[in-house]
Amino acid sequence: MNLAEFVEGRRDQHLAELCDFLRIPSVSAKSEHKPDIERGARWVADNLRAAGFKTVEIVPTNLHPLVYAESLEAPGKPTILFYGHYDVQPPEPLDLWTSPAFEPTVRNGNLFGRGTADDKGQVHIHLKAFESLQKANGKLPVNVKVLIEGEEEVGSVSLWDFVQRNKEKLRADALLVSDTSMLGKGVPSITYGLRGLNYYQIELTGPARDLHSGVYGGAVPNPLTILAELFAKLHDKNFRVTVPGFYDQVATVSNAERKALNALPWKKKDFEKAVGAPGYFGEKGFTTVERLWIRPTFELNGIWGGYQGEGAKTVIPSKAYAKFSTRLVPNQNPQKIAKLVEKHIRKLLPKTVHCKFEVLSTGKPWVAPYHAPIFQKAQAALEKGFGKKAVFIREGGSIPFVTQMHDTFNVPCVLLGFGLPDENAHAPDEHIALENYFGGIKAVAHFYADLATL
Ligand code: BES
Ligand code: MN
Ligand code: MN
Repeated sequence: MNLAEFVEGRRDQHLAELCDFLRIPSVSAKSEHKPDIERGARWVADNLRAAGFKTVEIVPTNLHPLVYAESLEAPGKPTILFYGHYDVQPPEPLDLWTSPAFEPTVRNGNLFGRGTADDKGQVHIHLKAFESLQKANGKLPVNVKVLIEGEEEVGSVSLWDFVQRNKEKLRADALLVSDTSMLGKGVPSITYGLRGLNYYQIELTGPARDLHSGVYGGAVPNPLTILAELFAKLHDKNFRVTVPGFYDQVATVSNAERKALNALPWKKKDFEKAVGAPGYFGEKGFTTVERLWIRPTFELNGIWGGYQGEGAKTVIPSKAYAKFSTRLVPNQNPQKIAKLVEKHIRKLLPKTVHCKFEVLSTGKPWVAPYHAPIFQKAQAALEKGFGKKAVFIREGGSIPFVTQMHDTFNVPCVLLGFGLPDENAHAPDEHIALENYFGGIKAVAHFYADLATL
């Protein structure tokens, strides 16, 4: 049987298998899901074996296992490392899902469920491409190494150590990742830049214990009020981050590149529809695309403290908490930025509260030229899968491994994204368009085949 028959003739089977994968609630953030994470790793390992990989290992780490596989049966051909993640974001709030997060369901040409777009659906595209190539030709056209981790959504904490201790094992001529988005529907895209991410948490303590707000109110510091005042000071009127030195290392993006990015078929209407806010704003002097892809940000991700239950409770809380993050762009240094942020926050806080400041994870931004021949091959393969020429984009999200790989081996990193920006990654009703899932298998199978002549 030839490749096209395998890719086209097995749609139902491929989809059914993806649904099996999606039913495993492999949520990396919550320890109660540890058994599901292990099941997720085993599912990936079994599927790689079924796709013809003879060397498949589940590697334990301090947190969640990663899956490594290799098929090195194409002497003289390039070696490609494929990376993805089998862990998913927590599904909450559950009541906002139209169909349950871990019961994958097809509606209107989309497959709904946690992990459909980020990243199980995209990982599965490659698994099925490998299987199709193996079944059609008896072996893979290039040497392939596969690394699928279970900690991406919690910052890939164990990965750096694994990479440093297994450099020879991971060495490859190029990295291939499908964990990003297309610019829009019908626009196949190759991503050449990602933002980095630092994630922080603070705990403010005022009074040593919760207090009656009538008995004590007016004469004691309220950590919640202080928290609100603090974050109100972190942007100026032009929506620039007020942390001194925050922008010092930001690389200037050339006029030519800004022009190219702004000329992409990016649709403001689609963006606004996906967001659904009553209005929009951002850093003065930059377009929306620039704000999303080439500018750093400071975002509050959660604040809590005090009473949140039903009815009223007159209390001055002892503590107030916040989770927040900075998205970073070249050439900001995550460690340096973390120090600047802590210093500024401590300076802004009054002496009336104690502040515990934690950096939960750091990650570097990434941008790389795309003139190596592999990028033309990628463009050609996407054209075979989608019938359209692919565009080169940058994106605002972060994938720690891409930078780690780039810094360690300095090889081309090819990011072929098959998600769409409005597919609700990390949110209720996450989905993937079936045409992109199937188009992805076709494009990726062609890509691996074409790489034999790289
Ligand atoms: N797949 C995303 C990253 C992404 C999404 C890149 C869309 C480009 C476009 C990944 O799973 C993710 O969510 N990463 C986290 C970072 C991590 C350190 C928690 C992110 O970007 O918040
Ligand atoms: Mn992802
Ligand atoms: Mn994600």
